[in-house]
Amino acid sequence: MIDVDTATAAHYRQLVSQLQQHNHRYYVLDDPSVPDAEYDRLMHELCALEARYADLVDADSPSQRVGGMALAEFNQVAHTRPMLSLDNAFDAAELQEFGRRVNERLARRDSVAYACEPKLDGVAISLLYRHGILDRAATRGDGAVGEDITENARTIRSIPLRLQGDSVPKLLEVRGEVYMPRDGFDRFNAAAIAGGEKTFVNPRNAAAGSLRQLDPKITAARPLQMCAYGVGEIDAQWQPPTHLEMLQYLGALGFMINPHVHLAVDIDDCEQYYRDLAIQRPALPYDIDGIVYKVNDLEFQRRLGTVRRSPRWAIARKFPAEEEMTQLIAVEFQVGRTGAITPVARLQPVFVGGVTVSNATLHNADEIARLDARVGDMVIVRRAGDVIPQIAKVMVEKRPVDAVPVKFPDCCPVCHSPVEQLTGEVVARCTGGMFCSAQIKQAIKHYASRRAMDIDGLGDRLVEQLVDAKRIHSVVDLYNLDVSQLLPLERMAAKSATNLLVAIENSKQTSLAKFLFALGIREVGEGSAQILANSFGSLEALIDASPEALLEIDGIGPIVARHIGNFFSNPDALAIVSALQESGVIWPNEAVDQRAEQPLHGQTWVLTGSLQIMSRAEAKDALLGLGAKVAGSVSAKTSQLVAGPGAGSKLRKAESLDIPTMDEQQFIEFLQVQRNF
Ligand code: IVH
Repeated sequence: MIDVDTATAAHYRQLVSQLQQHNHRYYVLDDPSVPDAEYDRLMHELCALEARYADLVDADSPSQRVGGMALAEFNQVAHTRPMLSLDNAFDAAELQEFGRRVNERLARRDSVAYACEPKLDGVAISLLYRHGILDRAATRGDGAVGEDITENARTIRSIPLRLQGDSVPKLLEVRGEVYMPRDGFDRFNAAAIAGGEKTFVNPRNAAAGSLRQLDPKITAARPLQMCAYGVGEIDAQWQPPTHLEMLQYLGALGFMINPHVHLAVDIDDCEQYYRDLAIQRPALPYDIDGIVYKVNDLEFQRRLGTVRRSPRWAIARKFPAEEEMTQLIAVEFQVGRTGAITPVARLQPVFVGGVTVSNATLHNADEIARLDARVGDMVIVRRAGDVIPQIAKVMVEKRPVDAVPVKFPDCCPVCHSPVEQLTGEVVARCTGGMFCSAQIKQAIKHYASRRAMDIDGLGDRLVEQLVDAKRIHSVVDLYNLDVSQLLPLERMAAKSATNLLVAIENSKQTSLAKFLFALGIREVGEGSAQILANSFGSLEALIDASPEALLEIDGIGPIVARHIGNFFSNPDALAIVSALQESGVIWPNEAVDQRAEQPLHGQTWVLTGSLQIMSRAEAKDALLGLGAKVAGSVSAKTSQLVAGPGAGSKLRKAESLDIPTMDEQQFIEFLQVQRNF
């Protein structure tokens, strides 16, 4: 064995401490202090030292987070102080009643202040630190006895292996929640689906399943986080007098503290906090199932004490559940504009995540097979965040004997053309093209929409009637309509018919970008249509463009380029384009590459948080169309940040760099102004 000299040992401890600080900034504060490459370099140096001098390796070294040996079983751990559970308040009246009891027991007339915290939907954990070093981690178990999961806890980067600061308590038991953020959960499930492995129903199950692994290497690979919300045992020279100060103290020791904690001056303020957080809930990056209210004064907490297994000083106010069980009544197949066939689950209506849900997407045939969903099954519907409702699980054990397996159609349910699924694609498509009335209707609705040819008065219902009555078979026929064809339609009078014909006539004067967008070429949004118009200037130049020429354009990727190529090499599509031009659709040719004149030319924008009105793709597309670059991270070069609810580190970083920010409403107003120029 090679002896370690004092200088090397000192250098080693310095590296450990430097890396611990970087880890804290990255995993706890979500605010990296060095570029990834610098971190990797330090980590590499540390591992090289540890490989050379095995004696050096300390238990708190950041290299010790990858997960050691697998266990045969978990040891049991008796909690010195029981891990309590919380009573629930299901409505405002029950919360008021709780507040009244607190005042009564404390014999106080003055209002009592409460710490309000999101109730994170994960698994409780107890972390015991001796002289600042993580000594043992345990699950809650039955509250009195849990399981020793120290090796697994060590792999969670937001759990400090060593407490920060100079005066750490002799003994400290920190309690908190281990949870899986939603994006990590989605990524984990997507990878599991791709690998043909089992998925988790929700982030809570994913966190629980990941924490109870005998092999810590499995836990290490799961995107878990831990947030501290309280203290069990403590032996320290000084203790904070209130719960919120205790949380601050834990933050200073290196723990992640939820940024939404709030001090409510009285119980009415608690109710207001509930309403505020309920609005923010869909945009949070993790699941919460309610709010926890805790009497803030720790002396008051001691006086109130506990009853059975719950403290008298705290209560949980639950949010509406984000998962409910209901019955799958039928599966229908919808045909989109590009022929994509999407199975839609019709459900017995159920109240979930704050709304009544009666449909859920089943995505595609693979998803139906994976879930093994049958008509008549009881299913778990999950509607969390802004996402559309999903079927998270089929309750196979509740399957009725007459449940009917779902058969993906071989023929289009609308036009009966064969359905094909290209190799490498998960989506099955109707091959009917412009012979399929479903595709025709969607294509016409898109063509007429405001951002495309903007035909005022041609609504969805009207398009459906016109196609069903065989008055129109493609967008070209719009330009041959006359009053006598319109009058027999529902709710159509002479005046509205004339107005519609005027609107159709007016739509002929357009721009190349709008026309390209209106054609509905796959993956060509408004922004990419604008880029194409600017780059090629004329339709003829675009039709003649080689695949290489398309790929050279900033903002046009290989998939979009392939769809453009396919579209313009299809004789039917070309025939429609010429017929439209012959009908009088016209636009001024644009000067090639006006990019320097584009309003956002040279700017780099960043989108963060969740957008409520636009999709991320729409927002990005709109920015590209105005000439901006869209980047994934904030730097000194960022021109503007658009921050929706739930924005975190990117917003903080932008603010610290004095980069202008706007919310979604301001962004939409900004786009409106730009588009009218
Ligand atoms: S305090 C005595 N605070 O909710 C108080 N619990 O039944 C004990 N939870 O499984 C818990 N977020 O893990 C508290 N901010 C929070 C919490 C929280 C989630 C969980 C906890 C426990 C359950 C309470």
